Amino acid sequence: MTADAGGDGSGGDGFGGRVALVTGAAQGIGAAVAALLAGRGARVVGCDLRGSDTEGAFPVKELDVTDGAAVEALVAEVERTVGPVDVLVNVAGVLRVGPALELADDAWQHSFAVNTTGVFHTCRSVGRRMAGRGRGSIVTVGSNAAGVPRTGMAAYAASKAATAMFMRCLGLELAASGIRCNLVSPGSTDTAMQRSLWTDPGAEQRVLAGDPASYRVGIPLGRIADPVDVAEAVAFLAGDRARHITMHDLYVDGGATLRA
Ligand SMILES: NC(=O)c1ccc[n+]([C@@H]2O[C@H](COP(=O)([O-])OP(=O)(O)OC[C@H]3O[C@@H](n4cnc5c(N)ncnc54)[C@H](O)[C@@H]3O)[C@@H](O)[C@H]2O)c1
Repeated sequence: MTADAGGDGSGGDGFGGRVALVTGAAQGIGAAVAALLAGRGARVVGCDLRGSDTEGAFPVKELDVTDGAAVEALVAEVERTVGPVDVLVNVAGVLRVGPALELADDAWQHSFAVNTTGVFHTCRSVGRRMAGRGRGSIVTVGSNAAGVPRTGMAAYAASKAATAMFMRCLGLELAASGIRCNLVSPGSTDTAMQRSLWTDPGAEQRVLAGDPASYRVGIPLGRIADPVDVAEAVAFLAGDRARHITMHDLYVDGGATLRA
C-alpha cells in the first residue's frame, strides 16, 4: 500500500484541498479540529453560535445547529461558494449539569437540541449531498459519558448516547454510498466546558485521581486531555488512513472508563 491510502492524491494524512465543515469551531475541541484539518490541507469552514469576521486559518460562520433550516441554508451556501463538503465534523455541544430529578425542562431539551438534534440536522443536510456524490466522511464528537453513567450528567449522557446510536445507524445506511460515519468520544479535556465543572480547588485533582463519592475511577493515564489529543483522533477517522473504518466509537479518555 502506498502512503496515499485513498488513492486520490491527497496523501494518507493529508486532506488535499478537501472541504471540511466543523461545528462548534469557535473554541475548545472544535477550534483544535478545525486548525488541525486546515494544517493538513483541508479547506475548513467552521461554524458556531458566534461567527467571526477575522478569518485566520479558517472562517467561522454563525450557525445555531438546533435550527434545521439554518443548517440547510449554511450547507447549501458552503457547497455553492467553497465546494462540495467532503468531511463533516460535529463538535458543537452543551453540558447542562444537575441531579436527574432536579433537571428543568429547559436543561433536558437544550441538551438534546444541540447534542442530538443538532447532529441529526448537519448529518441530514451534508449526508444527502455526500450520498449523491458517493463519497464523504462524517465524524461526531460524542463523550465517554455516553458509555458510563455519571452523577449530575443524566441529560448530557443520555443525549450523547442517543447520538452515538444515531451515528451507527447512519453509518450502516450510508456505507453502500461509500460514506463512513464514526464517533470520537473524549473524556475530560481541558476546555471551557471542562473547567465549568471545576467549581472548587480540589475538583481537577478528583477528576485525575478519582472520586468514590461520585463513583469515578479517575484517569489511568494521569492527565487531562489537550483538545489536540481529541483532534488527532478526529483527523484519523476523517481521513483516508481510516478508509475501512465505519460505525466505530474511538474513546480518547486516558482510560477513564476502563472501556467497560
Ligand atoms: N471538554 C470535555 O471534557 C469534553 C468531554 C467529552 C466530550 N466533550 C464534547 O466535545 C465537544 C466540544 O466541547 P468543548 O469541551 O470544546 O466545549 P466548549 O464549550 O469549549 O465548546 C463548545 C462549542 O460549541 C458551541 N455551541 C454550543 N451550542 C451550539 C449551537 N446550538 N450551535 C452551534 N454551536 C454551538 C459553543 O458556542 C462552543 O464554541 C462537545 O460536544 C462536548 O460535549 C467535551
